[in-house]
Amino acid sequence: MIVEEFKSEYSKRLIVKKIWDWGWHYYVTTGVLTQSGGLINDIWKPVISNVQCLMSNVLILGLATGTLAKILVKRYKGVKVTGVEIDPVMIAIGKKYFDLDKIPNLEILNTDAEKYSPKERFDLVLVDLYLGDKPPSFLYSHKYLKKLRKMGKLVIINHLFYDSRKRENAEKLIKKLGKYFKDIKLRRILTNVMIICE
Ligand SMILES: C[S@@+](CC[C@H](N)C(=O)[O-])C[C@H]1O[C@@H](n2cnc3c(N)ncnc32)[C@H](O)[C@@H]1O
Repeated sequence: MIVEEFKSEYSKRLIVKKIWDWGWHYYVTTGVLTQSGGLINDIWKPVISNVQCLMSNVLILGLATGTLAKILVKRYKGVKVTGVEIDPVMIAIGKKYFDLDKIPNLEILNTDAEKYSPKERFDLVLVDLYLGDKPPSFLYSHKYLKKLRKMGKLVIINHLFYDSRKRENAEKLIKKLGKYFKDIKLRRILTNVMIICE
């Protein structure tokens, strides 16, 4: 059921929907793909629950309405989360429907992930950058991958993997990442591949 529709400079259309699943749950879609809420939980939860090291500070690139941030603060008590999100409309939807501003220890940065250069190094960097079904092109550049290596001890990238073009792009990315990370593990979840880099 459609709850509200928004115009966005970045995603064109963002639609808030709710479904009944033993309670009403909201999610955000561009019309084709889920951008936040719902399925995002199913994709990230198995990966986050498998990360064994202690986490004190985590960076999310592509915060959206905070689905992943909620998983993190539940899993790691007291963790400090920094969320980078380019789209102010997405942040506003997060505050209105997803209690984004009530997530403890979350710093919300409304900025472009490409331009964001933190001073600190994070225990974990989660890359969930999409506009519709496309990650930004800078994600595939050597310059940005080098920057990711510096930003995080452990970096996990969520990449779509459901057609030949997306698989090819993911494979090219994995190859490039090999230049910057010693250990790369892959985990297929639903339509996606999670690229786990250390
Ligand atoms: C699939 S959603 C992320 C889902 C989110 N991690 C969650 O927990 O719900 C992708 C998000 O990346 C954001 N995004 C796309 N390009 C970006 C960029 N260059 N910088 C920051 N955010 C970006 C989009 O606006 C969108 O909100």
